[in-house]
Amino acid sequence: MTTLQPSAPPADLPAGSVLSVRGLRKDFTLHTIDGRVVEALHGVDLDVAPGEHVALAGTSGAGKSTLLRCVYRTYLAGGGHIWFRTAAGDLVDVAALPDATVADLRGHEIGYVSQFLKAQPRRSVLTTVASAGTARGMARDAAREAAAAALRQVGIAEHLWDMHATVLSGGQKQRVNIAAGTIAPPRLLLLDEPVSALDPANRSAVLDLIARLERTGTAVLSVFHDLDAIERLATRVVVLGGGRVLASGPPEQILRDSSLPLEVAR
Ligand SMILES: Nc1ncnc2c1ncn2[C@@H]1O[C@H](COP(=O)(O)OP(=O)(O)OP(=O)(O)O)[C@@H](O)[C@H]1O
Ligand SMILES: [Mg+2]
Repeated sequence: MTTLQPSAPPADLPAGSVLSVRGLRKDFTLHTIDGRVVEALHGVDLDVAPGEHVALAGTSGAGKSTLLRCVYRTYLAGGGHIWFRTAAGDLVDVAALPDATVADLRGHEIGYVSQFLKAQPRRSVLTTVASAGTARGMARDAAREAAAAALRQVGIAEHLWDMHATVLSGGQKQRVNIAAGTIAPPRLLLLDEPVSALDPANRSAVLDLIARLERTGTAVLSVFHDLDAIERLATRVVVLGGGRVLASGPPEQILRDSSLPLEVAR
């Protein structure tokens, strides 16, 4: 059993950052294959400031999704710290918080959108999106209005709003997911390939929505598999490789560096 050991934040964290990851480690023990250990992250350091969009890059298996899942606490970190500055101004270590506090942060301050919608059965599309807003503190009517606006923006036609989200197509689910993840913008938004199943027009609408969020001060940590989305949205690119940060810098510099293992669609 893992014991969570709270510790005091170091004095040298950037004052303005929403997220400061320090020495993050994560191993997986494959119990079905002789207990073999896969080392995914070996000491990752990373900061994200309000309004900043940090895109993670690196080859398949580099640990991008694992990093996002550790920050969202779907995975428990094997070592290191994940400092998150709350709206109240407290610095908390997501790697060591009790589950109840993590659940509260997820509802209010940290959003996570992957390519898969975890839709609750028998809940309509509009209710799915609106309840994400009420969970982040919006009044019920305001949440329904904001949900309608978000659904329009990502191109979900009105006749789909009272259908159950579970019956939608893959691309429709992905757009409902992004509408739910961005309504009442969280302080930190984690995106794992949020446009992978979308056609060009819908993809563009979703990228516009993400761009607008950054202007409202949301900090974004993302994984996109195409260079164009990274160039359009990211303020900084962090390249992971061998479980560590290999490079970090402005997109125009990093994406043109042929020595880096970038595996993005060009
Ligand atoms: N739940 C898990 N159990 C065992 N191993 C895992 C698990 N999740 C991730 N891994 C391993 O950790 C490593 C990093 O995987 P991760 O999914 O983070 O890569 P990624 O950079 O997101 O790759 P991709 O670009 O293909 O999505 C891989 O070797 C993967 O097999
Ligand atoms: Mg991944």
